[in-house]
Amino acid sequence: MPQKGFFWYNSIMVIKGDKVTLRHVRLSDAERFVKWLNDPKVYQYLQAQARHLTLKKERKWIRDSLKNKTDKRFAIETLEHKHIGVVSLERVEVKHKRATLGIFIGEKSYWNKGLGTDAARTILKYGFEKMKLHKVELDVFGYNPRALKVYKRLGFKKEGVKREHNYHKGKFWDVYHMSILDREWKG
Ligand SMILES: CC(C)(COP(=O)(O)OP(=O)(O)OC[C@H]1O[C@@H](n2cnc3c(N)ncnc32)[C@H](O)[C@@H]1OP(=O)(O)O)[C@@H](O)C(=O)NCCC(=O)NCCS
Repeated sequence: MPQKGFFWYNSIMVIKGDKVTLRHVRLSDAERFVKWLNDPKVYQYLQAQARHLTLKKERKWIRDSLKNKTDKRFAIETLEHKHIGVVSLERVEVKHKRATLGIFIGEKSYWNKGLGTDAARTILKYGFEKMKLHKVELDVFGYNPRALKVYKRLGFKKEGVKREHNYHKGKFWDVYHMSILDREWKG
């Protein structure tokens, strides 16, 4: 397998980063997604808070998402080929060259090891260099300092705040809208 970059391997699109490999999501990933997306420690940080997700629903979601040729969803694997999460560029607006970044590592023991930063950096590189995007945006909850740190490190800027938008563990929290432009990425 080549060392780095984007390529096809056994008919599967693969993108290699420094610490992770991204590959297309497949139906056999469904069980892991169900486990992760039913874990409150994971889904508390996600926009689509998917409690009570079933294997049937998840399989249907993967099948539908495989038909969508515009949005890009990749399984995150460690360099040892362990599937630990997902990263995506979704809601792609072709005219405006814009997409929304989504990411989660479902295997919590892999948090704080630099893998999320590398996965997000790797898909941004793909988005800006291959898809020729102009802008990538996302929303992040104020109670998610880990994700905020990753996005800031990669060059995302806060462009707006939804004040006290989310109720979480007895408190209202701000939600930040963040984005990065292609020239900022290249810079
Ligand atoms: C967010 C996520 C993708 C980040 O990936 P990761 O591999 O854990 O992150 P990294 O290790 O690359 O970087 C995390 C940084 O945050 C820091 N951090 C962790 N907890 C922190 C806290 N409570 N306050 C401040 N910084 C914190 C880490 O020390 C690390 O910084 P460092 O590299 O300078 O030491 C991953 O943790 C995850 O999937 N979380 C659950 C779902 C989620 O939050 N998704 C994002 C929704 S917007």
